[in-house]
Amino acid sequence: MSLRVEGLGKRYGDTVVFSGVSLRVEPGEFVAIVGESGVGKSSLLNCLAALDDWSEGTITHNGTDLNGLDDTQRAHWRREHLGFVFQAFHVLPHLDIAQNVGLPLLLLGRPDAARVQAMLEAVGLGALGARLPAELSGGQLQRVAIARALVHRPGLLLADEPTGNLDPRTAAQVMDVLQQQAADSGAALVLVTHSATAAARAQRVLHLTANGLQAGPAG
Ligand SMILES: Nc1ncnc2c1ncn2[C@@H]1O[C@H](COP(=O)(O)OP(=O)(O)O)[C@@H](O)[C@H]1O
Ligand SMILES: [Mg+2]
Repeated sequence: MSLRVEGLGKRYGDTVVFSGVSLRVEPGEFVAIVGESGVGKSSLLNCLAALDDWSEGTITHNGTDLNGLDDTQRAHWRREHLGFVFQAFHVLPHLDIAQNVGLPLLLLGRPDAARVQAMLEAVGLGALGARLPAELSGGQLQRVAIARALVHRPGLLLADEPTGNLDPRTAAQVMDVLQQQAADSGAALVLVTHSATAAARAQRVLHLTANGLQAGPAG
């Protein structure tokens, strides 16, 4: 999955969040986007996921121009090609762990219990599939979210502050799992974070400002 972003801009009403954002991510690449709180990191990631509209510019995934897709087509595109890991985990409380991980496959009409179990084992939770989310720690829940994000073999994995709710030691373990699983699956990984430690793992670090993305370390 190659990602091409050209001249992307985002406004809320009259307020410009960012403009002139251009980015290329190659298949299997790991790119971190850093920037201070409020600069628009989550807004940018939500645009890359076509979860939100942008004001100008183009986003192309593997040759598919997202500008040309309506909301239903964008939803189908997301289901097939995208995994997303959020700061707040967003697991469904009434489904058990295996059901949470299997949800993307169910939505695609391709349930696969063996694949779900393999993903649970890959993130170190092979014995916990029958538990409910309330019975897991934050670090374990984020590993559930990583398994869910990759279970359907998406080409692109987006992660928004995935360690923001975790203590440093747990954060490092979760980043190990995220990085390893993205690499094993061949997915491109775009990580948004204000953690310099997490960003330092990436092959490239880009700094988001109101005027676009610049190469270089966190400011
Ligand atoms: N739905 C929204 N409506 C209006 N303004 C928003 C909305 N979402 C975010 N913003 C504003 O856009 C800016 C960027 O927010 P965000 O993308 O969450 O930044 P970051 O993730 O870097 O902290 C902030 O000033 C925020 O208040
Ligand atoms: Mg944010």
